[in-house]
Amino acid sequence: MLMAKKKSLFILLCILMLNLLIGDALNELEEDIDFLEPKNDHHSFNDLEGMKEIPFDYYQLVLQWQPATCSPGICLRPFSSRFSINGLWAGSYSRLIGRCTGSRFLEQNVTSIRKELDKDWPSLIISSNPAVWSEAWNLHGTCFETPTFQINDYFRLALYLFWRSDVQKALQDFGIEPINGKQYEKSDIEAAITEKFGKPALRCNLNVKYFFQSQLAQVVLCFNKCLARIDCPSQYSPALGCPTKILWIKT
Ligand SMILES: *[C@@H]1O[C@H](CO)[C@@H](O)[C@H](O)[C@H]1NC(C)=O
Repeated sequence: MLMAKKKSLFILLCILMLNLLIGDALNELEEDIDFLEPKNDHHSFNDLEGMKEIPFDYYQLVLQWQPATCSPGICLRPFSSRFSINGLWAGSYSRLIGRCTGSRFLEQNVTSIRKELDKDWPSLIISSNPAVWSEAWNLHGTCFETPTFQINDYFRLALYLFWRSDVQKALQDFGIEPINGKQYEKSDIEAAITEKFGKPALRCNLNVKYFFQSQLAQVVLCFNKCLARIDCPSQYSPALGCPTKILWIKT
């Protein structure tokens, strides 16, 4: 009973914050309420409330642009011109969050969302998807683990955030398309994504075929503990940052 009250209070606070921060359309708010409402063990994230106690400040959803991940010719798996999930990481404003520890990943933990994960969180380089999920859980997912936020919840949350974050469409709406060899201003790509999702962190790698020019490889989107979109802090991994002009290649 007390737990239920605490939960409702958290949900209420989140809704208030969502309202204040981004003034989302009402129906999207209703979706959020629905999402946070307890349903059954496997299909709700009502236990995000427990996240208040965990020492991190925001969620980082890391998306990878498949052709860039694979451009050095290292992928053993088929890939296409789309973003897929690379990870969901805990972020902190004040410290580096390293490797966490917790429960061991078993394939059974994600049986109920296997199809969705195979599609949107595939392994590209190695041949086993579960090996990649296991690594993601061990390195990053464990940072979020609570008695009520388990492996299945972690992967569902990542999918949920991913499905609400069509970065490719946001870019397309700005007239930005993946075109082989074409250089874009990083600031244009940033602006297009920022308008829909808050300021992203962009990461680049080098494309061998195009004379080692930098190309868009990853887009990081940030969310607060209420899952409202926030600007990603700018100190985020400058080492992997992008120069002012970058490629966005396709397959
Ligand atoms: C993973 O699945 C196993 C087997 O169903 C279960 O016993 C365990 O509690 C699950 N672990 C987590 C952290 O979700």
